[in-house]
Amino acid sequence: MKVISTIAELRAALKAERLKGKSIGLVPTMGYLHIGHMTLVRQSRAACDVTAVSIFVNPTQFGPNEDLSSYPRDMAGDLAKLKAEGVDYVFTPEVAEIYRAGAHTIVENPVLSRILIGKIRPGHFRGVSTVVTKLFNIVQPDHAFFGEKDYQQLTIIRRMVVDLDMPIVITGVPTVREEDGVACSSRNAMLKPEHRKAAVVLPRSLERADEMVARGQRSVAAIRNAVRSMLETEKRGEVESVDIRDAQTLDPVSGKFKQPVVILLTVRFGKVRLIDQRVIG
Ligand code: PAJ
Repeated sequence: MKVISTIAELRAALKAERLKGKSIGLVPTMGYLHIGHMTLVRQSRAACDVTAVSIFVNPTQFGPNEDLSSYPRDMAGDLAKLKAEGVDYVFTPEVAEIYRAGAHTIVENPVLSRILIGKIRPGHFRGVSTVVTKLFNIVQPDHAFFGEKDYQQLTIIRRMVVDLDMPIVITGVPTVREEDGVACSSRNAMLKPEHRKAAVVLPRSLERADEMVARGQRSVAAIRNAVRSMLETEKRGEVESVDIRDAQTLDPVSGKFKQPVVILLTVRFGKVRLIDQRVIG
């Protein structure tokens, strides 16, 4: 496994792989890797000849009052995990390598980046689209892997490669969960123990929605209300949003839905915002 921190060195190494006819898979991450990230890595290893993982806590996707400085990091642990998984390249750039002086060009989907989480976190998806474009340009992967857990992010990336003619296959990987059903997240480590316990209300409320749909319920309002009231039974969390949207476009849906829809939750525990999602119907 090669650990590389400059763009020039990574480009040279990957160019040599490409000349040998190898396909390249990219798994972009912000590190503090858990089994969810490793599942993306395994899918890349299975689908591509060469797998590159980037570890970069991207400052432009954090707001001024967000958790950039306290975002958990463990480079040594991450590298050990990636090595054990058989990863070929790890890209670990410094901030100055990615954002050079005078860099102002951005990539943004002005529609999808301003709804849902984009409303709560202005600028967040602009930062994500910009850094992912840069990683795509640096690595030039054939294939890139993203988690369904960050459903809006995945939707924005899928749309971006279509809109900007990027020749990259995007694969969405189902959310990997801990034993109690809570989605694996680097942010779980930032939760107080009592909040970590309380977080189980997110997957449970999504299961409740699933059961309603299984029994024939198709009313958006009925499902949203049931999910919200279940989330609100957990007094330690503060429910920020419960949205039901078209699973492909994230367009609002109302009345009775016929197409697949996605339920998107954001709940805050103290300063930590947890998200979860489930496609139903
Ligand atoms: P990060 O939060 O580190 O997540 C990296 C990738 O792992 C994302 O595609 C995310 O959706 C996926 N992931 C996280 N938890 C998961 C889980 N429980 N199950 C399945 N996949 C999971 O998302 C980012 O970093 C950044 O925004 C990034 C895309 C790297 C751009 O900076």
